[in-house]
Amino acid sequence: MELIFRKEENQEEEVLFVPTLKDDKAITNLIKSFDYEDEKDVLARVKKENFKGNKGQVFVIHDDKQVLVFIGTGQAKKLTTEDFRKTAGHIIAYLKKYKANKIGLISKHWLKGSSDISLLAQSLAEGIYLANYNFDKYKKTDKEAIKVDIKELYVYLLASQKVKFTKAWELGKSLAEGTILARDLVNEPAGTMTPQFLADTAREIAKTNKNITVKILEEDKIAKLKMDAFLSIAKGSHEAPKFIHLIYKPIGKAKDKIAIVGKGITFDSGGLNIKPWEGMYDMKVDMAGAATVLGVFEALAVSNPKVEVHGIIAACENMPSGNAVKPGDIVKNMQGKSIEIAHTDAEGRVTLADSLAYAQKQGINKIVDLATLTGSVVVALGSQYAGFFANNNKLAKDILKQAESSGETMWQLPLAPEYKEMNKSKVADIRNISNTKGGGSIMAAWFLDYFIEEGVEWAHIDIAGPAYIEKSINSYTPVGGAGFGVRTILNWLRNI
Ligand code: BES
Ligand code: ZN
Ligand code: ZN
Repeated sequence: MELIFRKEENQEEEVLFVPTLKDDKAITNLIKSFDYEDEKDVLARVKKENFKGNKGQVFVIHDDKQVLVFIGTGQAKKLTTEDFRKTAGHIIAYLKKYKANKIGLISKHWLKGSSDISLLAQSLAEGIYLANYNFDKYKKTDKEAIKVDIKELYVYLLASQKVKFTKAWELGKSLAEGTILARDLVNEPAGTMTPQFLADTAREIAKTNKNITVKILEEDKIAKLKMDAFLSIAKGSHEAPKFIHLIYKPIGKAKDKIAIVGKGITFDSGGLNIKPWEGMYDMKVDMAGAATVLGVFEALAVSNPKVEVHGIIAACENMPSGNAVKPGDIVKNMQGKSIEIAHTDAEGRVTLADSLAYAQKQGINKIVDLATLTGSVVVALGSQYAGFFANNNKLAKDILKQAESSGETMWQLPLAPEYKEMNKSKVADIRNISNTKGGGSIMAAWFLDYFIEEGVEWAHIDIAGPAYIEKSINSYTPVGGAGFGVRTILNWLRNI
């Protein structure tokens, strides 16, 4: 797609898209501003077609030169970054039906008084690329799988805004590409999406980016580091575990050193405490945290944050077998803390006990983990909100702010002190499930907290709900892997 900038005169692209607020008066004025000869007829048609500017509603004007498409934003006031992304998604939906490869946007119609052209460009790029995503590699034909091919995108703006627009567009595009990598990884069935596959993807990312290096620790090295907690979960599977450590170093001095840790269970059968079929069906999703880490690294090159970033993934399968970890087993993590495996399906937290320990051993004292950790967070918050926990208010505030503007909704849940002791074990330092019913996602967060050392800032994002979309939730997020968290984390890293 080529970006072409113009002033407002010669409009000769095939389709010009105009976002339209949900406000009758604004619609009339907007249409009048185009100076159509048959303005009266057009306005009569607006009435007849009941065009109100509802979300995704479309009103079309043809003339001999071009097509003008008004797209309802559903919003009566100034548009937010999320409105930009959603409207971009509606543009893609329109283009899937009515093919056109030259399209145009007039920036003043989008900004309406708010002056940040960068936010507009970034969000438009995110929306356009994300909405145009399909996981169709295993399908021969599919009508919905049509990809839109925009060859030329004309943008009408002030000459002074060109540089800003281009820069932000490139950023938005790269955030979308990182998200799309994460979606692809989540959508890939567990038969191919193995720990080896994740390791190969990490290697590929490091190979194509000079600021990124990778270490893949094989089983013997993992054992040497005494990550027995991680290894105990991997034991039941024929797939060899891989411990993945990516490092991004900025050009110049790093302002901070941060670890992004992802749960990397490439398939969660439950282990010996096996899941029923409905619960197991989608469990290829259980490496979504790892996918987010890889998506973040994929996009780091373009956003170039001034911080050192470590991506950490303990990748394995959770399978039942004669060799699998048994309920009641006691294992130690690399810090030497003993864990009673009371339930083999609470496996993610056990692998994370070693990932978090490893991160801290690198001398990192700011950690964010993303994990499809508990079914109970889905009970609490549904499929569109991630559960957010943090032991530090500033860290929480900073990440949640980026989550909101990225359109990746998260809701903070309490690390309630009343529940802290409920993972107590009679035979080990800690138990991998609580001994009280309810509050499962908080109990899991407390379990992780047990492995966080004094003074380390830590946030935990339970993405079990939004990592995988069962029914399309908006115009730029199709069903399947969502790539949830990539854009929030990158925007946070850029703003540290
Ligand atoms: N991977 C699951 C959590 C999950 C559930 C992710 C639904 C995505 C969608 C996790 O390993 C798990 O099985 N958790 C158990 C814990 C329980 C045994 C304490 C759960 O939430 O039921
Ligand atoms: Zn599980
Ligand atoms: Zn799991």
